[in-house]
Amino acid sequence: MPATLHSDSPLVPAVKLTGVSARYEQNVVFDDLCLEIAAGQFAGIVGPTACGKSTLLKIILGIHAVSAGQVELYSYPVNTVRPGTIGYVPQLGSVDWNFPVTVEEVVSMGLYTNGCIWPWLSKQERACIRDLAHRLGVNDCLQNHISDISGGQRQRTFLARALINNPKLLILDEPTSGVDIKTQHEVLHLLGDINKGGITILLTTHDLNAVASHLPWVICFNRGLVAQGRPNTIFTNEILTKTYGGDIVIVKSEGHLLIANSTPLNFMDEHP
Ligand SMILES: Nc1ncnc2c1ncn2[C@@H]1O[C@H](COP(=O)(O)OP(=O)(O)O)[C@@H](O)[C@H]1O
Ligand SMILES: [Mg+2]
Repeated sequence: MPATLHSDSPLVPAVKLTGVSARYEQNVVFDDLCLEIAAGQFAGIVGPTACGKSTLLKIILGIHAVSAGQVELYSYPVNTVRPGTIGYVPQLGSVDWNFPVTVEEVVSMGLYTNGCIWPWLSKQERACIRDLAHRLGVNDCLQNHISDISGGQRQRTFLARALINNPKLLILDEPTSGVDIKTQHEVLHLLGDINKGGITILLTTHDLNAVASHLPWVICFNRGLVAQGRPNTIFTNEILTKTYGGDIVIVKSEGHLLIANSTPLNFMDEHP
């Protein structure tokens, strides 16, 4: 009988990885990883390209098999968790925007967690989609083709698909990539509100400044856990150097953190 993730004890972590190893055939991505994410957390995973962030998310989602170790969600082994209890927003760069579907159809796909697609929505399902679309601000474009909406609306459409089953855990792979800064802020504020509604959120991002200003918790990752904690304590030269190598500078000004690439401004003059 699949588990429904009903434990609300703050003592039970939303995600617990014990001694987890991940690989693609002979290529080891990370080994012996132990990581806990508290229930109710709003956490961002940062780290360089190809360091294993997406693989880590896929392992937590149970769609990439571990080669060793255990993955538990709210103390249930991940392979026993009922489909739909985890919402997932994939990297939107991997979506084919010419695929012939409307916003409403994309959101409705979230309802079919057992692989069976019933071609008609019930009145109740349609009302549920309308309510959620209204909450996320895509109710005006429900009948639009997905190629015919903005980047922010695309992100909200896939967010609605992930939320349609009322998940306890929401996982997003790079939700701030490929959209402008205003949309990034809107998406992160929206996620903040969703988190306040009681949903644990775990996302990956390349935008360290967005993490510093919007997220209460950061996980620095590079083929293993480097450090995790509040951005103010975690974003130090030492930890970011361990995570990324020596290419980052941190500026602290009037209570704000600004994280920048340390490549000097005259780099292009010297390397035409
Ligand atoms: N489907 C796959 N098959 C083989 N290797 C993969 C696959 N997906 C990712 N990898 C490799 O695993 C490593 C980690 O990738 P990934 O988890 O996508 O990193 P990130 O999300 O941090 O960019 C990379 O070396 C990547 O090339
Ligand atoms: Mg990735």
